[in-house]
Amino acid sequence: MMPSTTSEKSSEASPAQAAFIFRCIGCAAIARSAAHDFRCSRCGNLLEITDASWKSTSLHAVALKSIWHERRSSNEFLDQSGVWRFRELLPAPVSTEHVVTLREGNTPLYELPQCSRITGMEQLYAKHQGMNPTGSFKDTGMTVAATFAHEAGYRWVACASTGNTSASMAAYAARGGMRSLVLVPEGKISWSKLSQALDYGALTCQLRTDFDGCLRLLQELVRRAPVYQLNSINPFRLEGQKTLAFELLEQFGWEPPDHIIVPGGNLGNSSAIGKALLEMLDIGLISRLPKLSVIQAEGANALVRTLREAEGKNLVSVQAETRATAIRIGNPASWQKAIKVLEATGGACEQVSEIEIAQAKAEIGAEGIGCEPASAVTLAGLKKLLRQGFVKTGETVVLVLTGNLLKDPDFTNEFHRGELFSGTADEQEAANLNPLRHPPVALDATLDAVIQTLERAEKSGPPEANA
Ligand code: F0G
Repeated sequence: MMPSTTSEKSSEASPAQAAFIFRCIGCAAIARSAAHDFRCSRCGNLLEITDASWKSTSLHAVALKSIWHERRSSNEFLDQSGVWRFRELLPAPVSTEHVVTLREGNTPLYELPQCSRITGMEQLYAKHQGMNPTGSFKDTGMTVAATFAHEAGYRWVACASTGNTSASMAAYAARGGMRSLVLVPEGKISWSKLSQALDYGALTCQLRTDFDGCLRLLQELVRRAPVYQLNSINPFRLEGQKTLAFELLEQFGWEPPDHIIVPGGNLGNSSAIGKALLEMLDIGLISRLPKLSVIQAEGANALVRTLREAEGKNLVSVQAETRATAIRIGNPASWQKAIKVLEATGGACEQVSEIEIAQAKAEIGAEGIGCEPASAVTLAGLKKLLRQGFVKTGETVVLVLTGNLLKDPDFTNEFHRGELFSGTADEQEAANLNPLRHPPVALDATLDAVIQTLERAEKSGPPEANA
């Protein structure tokens, strides 16, 4: 018998946390438990988690803000997690014994003075989810979904991935004493992410297909084998990823920024952030909604095309191709959830080119922060939204940086060595990015050689000081 993915609670459940339910995003059917593919048994659409108590008057916004704030100085393991700190707005496990945590979340909000100057923005920030334990935003969702996998008694968890989900899942599975199965497209993910899955002990299968092929196969697998799916189709993942928005608003003193800009791949993260914003508005934690915008790579622009060519009514899939391999996805699973949050918050959806991504990534790197290529679409997208007048320079903007710089060292090294666009149609245009490159200099090991190099660098001008 496979363990069921149920929401039933025993009497041990915390009284403050009522039982959650699953709701279909298509036909709105309600269920107390979910099938292994996390799809509606009536119409096949995706499920989301909701909880009547989240809207009830028993949750006073002022009290919540103060409880969450107090927990920041607590030594309790649950409170030290930047996800479980917000547990009043998360599904509750039967017992805290099941919680699998690496003290995720608690990520910094950085000012971006150099990127502000480049874009003309007065208030530009980065919420750096790459500062999570395994280096990406996936950890905030994984702690919740791994907890429920543990509670349901699963021995195996599994995911299809462009790299970050697999790294995160493998880590949380190991912490929770579960085994993990990773399906990744062969040769299409960064070796640094792959190395994480290997080290955390995952059974890693490199399939001769793309991410979309891996995900299709996983969906079939979960119907046949007792493995628990940890892709963002799993609504528990999205519940955990909501905390990015809770934490961000707390960092802003609950005064919402005007815009939040997020990369779009399988579209789970944008859906989760949007859900959190709407819940915060409902409860009265915030009084207005930031506009949530989604940016895709031109070569993986399924959502952009779905909105432009099909008015958001049916998915326009694409054969995805981009060096931002984390978002090399042509058939995003959560496209309907993402469209709902774009509509609800009044956000935009844009696409950016490979050159624009490389430029933005180097500019974020030059801030002393850095991120992986997929995260840099946010800055590239902001420039476009500014040109279109959708974002105004006087507004407050937050870029969600989803992954750490160290996630894709090949991209960075190739960029700085001037090899990233060699032999591609972008080769000539890429020459415009030369001022942003900082290639290593090979020298004889003499003092003279180093001093001359230093002097040459000094003459060519310092980077602008951070005002
Ligand atoms: N940025 C990074 C660094 C990612 O790893 C991903 C997705 C995204 C953005 C897009 O987020 O899918 O929620 O829209 N990576 C997944 C993975 C698909 O398997 O690691 P999304």
